[in-house]
Formats: sequence, structure tokens, C-alpha cells
Amino acid sequence: SLPKQVKIVEVGPRDGLQNEKETISAEVKIELVNRLTNAGFVNIEAASFVSPKWVPQMATSTEVMAGITRKAGVIYSALTPNMKGFESALLASADEVVIFSSASEAFAQKNINCSIAESIERFRDVAAAAKQHGLRLRGSISCAFGCPYQGEVTPEQVADVVKLMRDLGCDEIDIADTIGVGTPRHVQTVMQLVAQEFPIAQISGHFHDTYGQALANIYASMEVGVSIFHSSVAGLGGCPYAKGATGNVATEDVLFMMQGLGIHTGVDLNQVVDAGQFISQHLGRKAVSRAGNAIAAK
Ligand code: HMG
Ligand code: MG
Repeated sequence: SLPKQVKIVEVGPRDGLQNEKETISAEVKIELVNRLTNAGFVNIEAASFVSPKWVPQMATSTEVMAGITRKAGVIYSALTPNMKGFESALLASADEVVIFSSASEAFAQKNINCSIAESIERFRDVAAAAKQHGLRLRGSISCAFGCPYQGEVTPEQVADVVKLMRDLGCDEIDIADTIGVGTPRHVQTVMQLVAQEFPIAQISGHFHDTYGQALANIYASMEVGVSIFHSSVAGLGGCPYAKGATGNVATEDVLFMMQGLGIHTGVDLNQVVDAGQFISQHLGRKAVSRAGNAIAAK
């Protein structure tokens, strides 16, 4: 059976924008986050405190976090690959910090310049500091269904990293399809295996839509008990370290499906459509969201 309610984590301001070549001003990012806050999301990934040499677009994260109008109860998350990132996130008053590794060794090297085991060692201090300061801790696992550099990734490899993230004290763990190659039965197999290691209520599905499978994968995940999903307004994005990767599943499409299924999200679809049109205009292109464009055209 399907859940009555799901949590949608809006990752557009981070995962969506991080891959944009043209610099987007902090003002525009702030306006986007504010619009998303008003639309009713309870969790927005707003910043990334990574090396600006690696991901220049996220260099304004401190300004963005300082400029947004926060709503009580909303969790504003930030990526933190190491203690330097954590310290910035703490100063910026992030509510949740995200440590990120991979189920694939090859991808870990390309994305965070270390092995999976080394990343976990690096995260120990971040995890301890997050606990000490009362911040939520989320772990994200890339390439859970396939890797652009090493190809196949087994469900057991994903479960191994889930155990490591769990033992670091993560409150939530993302199973991420970085390159969008997962298909529904494969996704169910992975979700069911990782649920043996970590409570399914705290597992989220982070699906990029490169091969058009994301909505089907969300539905398949719900069938096996997953109720947290990441999506990106206007379908923005891609990962700078996964060539050819496209954006996350579009939030508007996910919300349209949830509405039709009678599943509560607490998010106002029309306001998300407006936010999607706003940011797409700034980027000078059409939104990728099918539902968003259909609604906007009405
Ligand atoms: P490194 O070069 O091995 O690290 O990078 P380092 O410690 O030797 O530092 C090198 C330089 O970066 C130094 O500066 C540091 O100060 C600076 P320099 O002395 O050369 O001037 N530096 C930092 N600056 C600001 N903030 C920091 C920071 N850390 C170091 N936190 C590192 C290692 C992890 C830092 C680097 O590889 C990096 O920043 N990687 C980030 C990659 C990234 O952001 N990828 C995209 C996000 S993950 C993603 O999109 C996947 C996800 O969506 C799930 C999915 O779909 O799969 C989450
Ligand atoms: Mg991603």
C-alpha cells in the first residue's frame, strides 16, 4: 500500500543550481528559496559548503543562507564534505548538514577526491560536531544504481555504505540515483535491502531523471515503504562530476502525481510552478518540468 503522506525535500537551489555555468546572483537564489519556503516545503537544500574551486556556483552559500527569510519548522540543509564545510554551515545557521559519499569507489574519487573509507573517516568529526551543536545529520549515497565510471553497482555495495552512514549517526540517508539509470524493480530491491540496515521511514529516494525513470522509481519506492523524496523545481540540475547527468526529477511532476494519488505533501503546486517559471526565466530557458509547463501554459 502507498503512504498517506510523503516528505518532499526541495533540492533545486543546491543540486539544481550547482551545475549552472553562468553565475547566478545570491539575490536570485534567495528569491528562489523564499518562494519555495512560501510554497510549503518543510525541507529545502539551500546551500553547499564545498570547495569553490570544485563547484564555483555554490560559492555564495554563506550569502544565500544569510539572506533567506526562514520559516519556523522548515529545515534548511547544506552540504558539508569536511570540517571546513561544517564550520561554514554552522556559522550560516544551517538546520541540517549533509555528508555525501558514494556506493562506487570510482565516483567517490571523482566527486570528493578520496575513497569511500577515507570519506567516512573524514565525516566522523563532522558527525560528532553536528550532534554537539544539535544539528540534524543526513547522509547521501551517490551512484546507488549505477556509476558513470565503474558501471555496475550492487545492492550490497549500497547497503555497506548505509551501514557506515548509520553508524556515524545519520538521522536520514539518501539513496541517490546520480545518473538516473535505476528502474523500478531494481530500485525496490535496493530499498528493501537497505531497509534491513536502517529504518525505512528515514530513507529517502534521490532520483535524477536522465533516463525518464524517476517518477516510476518514486512510485516503486513508495510500494516498499519509502516516504521521503528529493526533487528539483523546474527539473533543474545535474551533477558536475557525472557527465551527461541531468536534473533531479521535477518537483512539479512529483507533486502532480502525489495529488492524483491523494498523497499529502503540504506543498502548493501552483506556487512551485511560479517558482519554476521564475528561475527558468533567470536561466534563460524553458523549465524541464512537464506538469509545470502544462500548468503554466493554462
Ligand atoms: P581536496 O582538494 O581533496 O581537499 O577536495 P583539500 O582539503 O586538499 O582542499 C583543497 C582546497 O579546497 C583548499 O584550498 C581548501 O581550503 C579548499 P586551497 O588551499 O587550495 O586554496 N576547501 C574548501 N573550501 C571551502 N569549503 C570547503 C572546503 N574544503 C576544502 N568545505 C573536497 C576535497 C571534498 C573539498 C572537494 O573534492 C569538494 O569540494 N568536492 C565537492 C564536490 C561536490 O560538491 N559535488 C557535488 C555535490 S554531491 C552531488 O551532487 C550528489 C548528490 O546530489 C547525490 C547524487 O545525486 O548522487 C548529493
Ligand atoms: Mg543529486
